[in-house]
Parts: sequence; C-alpha cells; structure tokens
Amino acid sequence: MNFIYKYTSIIFCFSLIVFSTSCKQSEELNEQKVGVEIESKIDSIISVLTLEEKVAMCHAQSKFSTKGVERLGIPEIWMADGPHGVRAEISWDAWDYAGWTNDSITAFPALTCLASSFNPKLAGEFGFSLGEEARYRKKDVLLGPGVNIYRTPMNGRNFEYMGEDPYLASTMVVPYIKGVQKNGVAACVKHYALNNQEHWRDKVNVEVSDRALHEIYLPAFKAAVTEANVWALMGAYNKFRGQYTTHHELLTNKILKGDWKYDGVVISDWSSAHTTMEAAMNGLDLEMGTGTDGLGTTTSNHYDHYYLANPFLKKLKSGEIPVSVVDDKVRRILRLMHRTNMSSNRPIGRANNVEHHEVARKVATEGIVLLKNENNFFPIKDDKNLTIAVIGENATRSMTLGGGSSELKAKFEISPLQGLKDRYKNATIVHAMGYGSGASVYDQVLPSPYNADSLRVEAIKVAKTADIVLFVGGLTKSHLQDSEGNLDREQFDLPFGQIELLNDIKALNKKVGFILVTGNAVDMSWLNQVEGVIQTWYLGSMAGHAIADIVSGDVNPSGKLPFSFPKKLEDNAAVSFGKTSYPGVDLNQEYKEDILVGYRWYDTKNIEPQYAFGYGMSYTNFELSNISANQKKSTITVTCDVKNTGDFEGAEVVQVYVGKSDSKVKRAIKELKGFSKVNLKNGETKSVTISIPVEKLAFYDESISDWNVEKGNYEIHVGNASNNISDKIEISIK
Ligand code: GLC
Repeated sequence: MNFIYKYTSIIFCFSLIVFSTSCKQSEELNEQKVGVEIESKIDSIISVLTLEEKVAMCHAQSKFSTKGVERLGIPEIWMADGPHGVRAEISWDAWDYAGWTNDSITAFPALTCLASSFNPKLAGEFGFSLGEEARYRKKDVLLGPGVNIYRTPMNGRNFEYMGEDPYLASTMVVPYIKGVQKNGVAACVKHYALNNQEHWRDKVNVEVSDRALHEIYLPAFKAAVTEANVWALMGAYNKFRGQYTTHHELLTNKILKGDWKYDGVVISDWSSAHTTMEAAMNGLDLEMGTGTDGLGTTTSNHYDHYYLANPFLKKLKSGEIPVSVVDDKVRRILRLMHRTNMSSNRPIGRANNVEHHEVARKVATEGIVLLKNENNFFPIKDDKNLTIAVIGENATRSMTLGGGSSELKAKFEISPLQGLKDRYKNATIVHAMGYGSGASVYDQVLPSPYNADSLRVEAIKVAKTADIVLFVGGLTKSHLQDSEGNLDREQFDLPFGQIELLNDIKALNKKVGFILVTGNAVDMSWLNQVEGVIQTWYLGSMAGHAIADIVSGDVNPSGKLPFSFPKKLEDNAAVSFGKTSYPGVDLNQEYKEDILVGYRWYDTKNIEPQYAFGYGMSYTNFELSNISANQKKSTITVTCDVKNTGDFEGAEVVQVYVGKSDSKVKRAIKELKGFSKVNLKNGETKSVTISIPVEKLAFYDESISDWNVEKGNYEIHVGNASNNISDKIEISIK
C-alpha cells in the first residue's frame, strides 16, 4: 500500500511542478481558463486523498493554521487577524503572543476611518497595502474586513466596521477586498451575520425580519461575495432564529452558497462551531478555535476532537454523512489554496515601507471629520508667540494596542502629541495628561495608577498659561470601551472624569478645541464648552501626523460621518425599543427598529441627531447647483455642479439619497444610493455625475421573498449630508 502512495505522490508532485511552470509560461491564461484547469486539478487531488486527509483539512491544527497534505505536497493554510493591520504572531496552541521580533507592521486606521473617507479608490489602496503586509508575513488568509452594521453606539467593535449604512459599507468593502486579494492573500469578510453587539455575542439569538436582514444586514456581505469575489468568509458567534449563524441553513446554505453562488471557504469564528451535524450539513468548511474543554483539553491532540475532526470522520465512515459533503469542503479549501499558497504567480509582499505609511496617513487625514469650528478655531497657525496646551490621556496613549483581536504590534505609532510637536516648530507645545484610564486589558478594567487630583491640578496649571488648549480625549480600546469581548460599553458619556476636567479648564481658558479619539458616538452635552471638535477615530501608526495635518491646515478635512451621533442614547433606534431590542432579554433579542437603522430612524421619527450620517465640515465652503436627475433605460443619472467658494483647496462628498413617500410598504424617508467625492481648488467648479441602477431602488418584498422595484414616483435627495439636502427632484419609474 505504502509503495503505491509513494509512487502516486512522486508522479503527483512532478505533475504539480509541470503545472506550475506551465502556468508561469502561459501568463495570458484568463481567469476563466485558469478556473477550468484549477477545477480539474482539484478533482484529481480529491481523487487521491484519503478520507482522513480530507477531514484533517477541515479544521485547525493550531490557533491560526490548518493541516495540508504533506504526502502530496499540499501546504498548510496560515491565517492572521485583522481588518486594519496584520496581528503579531500568536503561539501555536495558546492565545499568548509568540514573542517574535520580526512581526511588527504598519498599523492602518480602523475601518470606521476608511468609511468616513467616502473614497472607494482609497479603500483599494488600503486593501492592497494591507494585503502586501499579510503576504510578507506569509499569511494566506487575512481575517478581515468586518462589515457588521452599526446598530447601537454601545457595540464595542463598531470601530472595526464601516458604519450604519449598507450602501456605504458595500461600496467601500469591494475595492478593499480586491486590493487585499491582488497579493494572493484571501480576505475573509466577517462576521456573517447579525453580530451587531459584543454583549453575549456567543449566545444571543437575534430575531429580525427578512426585509431588514436583506436590506440592512446582508448587503455588504453580498457585495463582498458577488462583486469582490471574496475568497473567505467568517461566520458569526450569535444565533439567528434559533440556529448558530456559523453553520446556518438559511444564511449559509440557501443565501450564501445558493443564491449568491459563493465558491470560497466558510471559516468559523474562533469557537463559533457547535455541533458536528450542523457544521457538516450547514456549510461550515473550516473549523477554527473550538474551545475543546467539552471535548477534553487534556487529550494529547485535542484538535482531533473538533466537531469537524474525529466525530465528523466517524459519521462519514458510517455513511451517516455522505462523502460528497466533505468533498465539497475540501474542494473549496483547495480552491482557496490555488488562489493563495498554491498559486504560481503570487507576488512577494513587503511591510513597513514608506508607501504603506503614506497610505495609512492618507486614509487617516481623509477620514478625520471636522464636526465644529466656531471663530475659525481650526486651523491653528504655527506661530512662535503661541503656546498650545495639549491635554488628555489620549494625546499619548497607544490606540493600536487593545480592542481585542484587531490589536496590533505597530513598528511605530505617532501619538497625537508627537505629531503636533513635530509639526509645530515655532509654537510652544506643553502637555499634561489631565486624566487617567488604566491599562488596555481584554477582559478587566484596571484603575489608573495615577492620582486623579494631581493630574487635574497639573492640567489646570498648564491650561491656564496657554493661549490655546487642545483637549485630546475620547474612549480607549480597553474593556467596556471600544473593545471586543463579551460586554459592550456601559456608558454613553465620556469616561474617566474627562468632562469635569474640561469644565475646569474652560473656566480658565476660553480657547478650547476637542480632539475626539473614539470608534463610536458619545454623549456631547459638553459641546458648548469648546469652539472646535475634530473626530479622529483610531488612526494607527501615522495618527499624530494625520492629526497635525488637519489641525495645522496642511490638509483640509473632508471626512463624513459613517454613522449618526444621537443627542442622547435613548434617541438611538435599537435602544429606544428597550431591553428586548438591545441588548436582549434572556439571550433573545429582537431588532424592533427593523429597516429604520441610523439616519433612517432619525429622518422617519423626526429626531434631530447631534451630528448626522454623512456630515463633515471643511475649512472652505462648497455650493451645489444645477442639480438634475433623469432616467434612461435602467439607470438614473444625477448630475450637479460643485463650487469651492472659499479660499482653501478641499474635497466635498456629493451624496444622493432616494425615497418613495407613496410606497405601498413602509420605507425610510430616504436611503443612500450613490456618492462621489470631488477635489476642488479655491474658486473651482466641477460637474459631478452619479449613476444609480434602477434595480437598486428595489425593496425586499417578503411576499415573494425577492427584490421588487415599485413603479411610480421617487424622490431624489441630493446634498452633502443626510441632514443637508440641497435639492429634491421627483422622477417616475415606469
Ligand atoms: C475573535 C474575533 C474574530 C477574530 C478571531 C480570531 O473572537 O471575533 O474577529 O478574527 O476571533 O482572533
């Protein structure tokens, strides 16, 4: 028996070499032809794999890798987090870091910042640079992007995602994924689906209508699959209609692999698989991170006890599960390999290079949102007679550490204070910490080691003598703040006594600006205490330079909010329906706001948010005019002129929302269906054209379980924020 295997494998390896060289020579093979050849090669591999080898490919062999088939020269698959940087190496079999000295990388801004840029081209550059770093670190799968919809400001992981609007998230995620995968590294869109909070994340059961599921929560995943051809997708921890979403009959078999024809690999979240039968029959292909406590951690190799390991093998051998089930999983895994570590023309990667730093800086500066700017507080000139007090813990606190699985070991991280010091060569920069929050730890809150009073006294002393105060506050990436884990934020207002300190400072110094470092909306009842507010997100390695770019006016801010800031927490749709809606009661949760998420809710209920979705100021002003909309065949074309009427070069985002006030079904007043960012020199005018396929006006019709474009009149709202519409035009769809 052994001789035959050896002989087969020699022939096989030889054919592998022949195949890969032939691929190199025939570079001009198009995707389709390579597809056909790869499929037939996969057939031949499957035909020589033993059942044991097939099963071994369907589950982890370590924290972040799966077995290949050594006998046939089929490699292991190596994965790494995360959505905005390649995580440091983790130990083989524990959550500790491996302590390597060559795994530092570029920390890119978190995806809320990328979404705020409203710049799909930039999303492509972001994805490509990140994919290059993953390739350099020899990862075949990058465990990101996350595209779960922002449903409440309390979700600890909102900073990792792309906001409250499915169209914005869909439009930004496609180029990001394509960029990553150009490096021969699979992106892994996550967490599919309805993982919109961290509270009870691994056991809460979500109930939501088909309509809201398809119109709000699935679009970004559908775009990832059908437009970006994502090669991997990660299931979520939570349940939906009583079944775990990681192996779900409706979500995985019917919608993902059926309707959307997904040909990639479904990977579990770490320990989100729960039974062999469901994992096998409901579309899970690769089981990772299963807590094997119930399966015997003391066993010599507990990976054999995974649901898709020995228990799966047993059911295959007994015939309870047909071999075709494991063959489909293996086919998908081999397809992933041929796209990554078995691809013959895979580029080499690189990391920590200047181009990546420039992309990180560009995303950061384009994502920063200017929220308030009274008396032209910003930009601040670099004047030798000026003393600027930079106060607040977030001026120096690392924001790449913490937050959970997306935390990074950055080669460097320019703090806001450092960035301001580097940029302001003439002005005097003084600093005081002002308040303390304690260490960034995954699952506990450590008190600040500093005496609050002495911090306060020191900050007040520094503020009193300064001409201008920049208060750098916000949230942190630690437990109960902007972080992953089994609990969400527990307060909407700013923590750690920041506001008391701000009030003390304001009493002594009128010139205060706030640099808000968060990945979530927060209470802003302190707004009248400050003249300027800049929302800066978690910006990664180049944070300080990007903040200084904006504060100094070297770059004119152009970011637009990817989610609404409610005036008070109860204004938020999910929260307004009480505990059943958020965070759930007895592990059951009902999305009672249905399709009215974010600005859709505020528009419909006539609630004014503190800051609206799509809102963001500039140091200059823009005028929209000559707005028109018409329909030709299956496309609606919206055009408008944008003029820069101020004296700063800058960029504006023209946003097109569509509504149907006489619809036969409940609808939001308006929904984002198109946007375009345009750069304008002072005084310059440009014409912008935005095309909207008529099919995108469809609502999900539960009576036919399909999309349905109503005939009749629609309103086209055109403006530069969801609450700043310049013109509304009626068109009629025949
Ligand atoms: C975590 C996260 C997921 C991450 C995975 C591996 O629990 O939910 O986003 O990729 O485990 O760290």
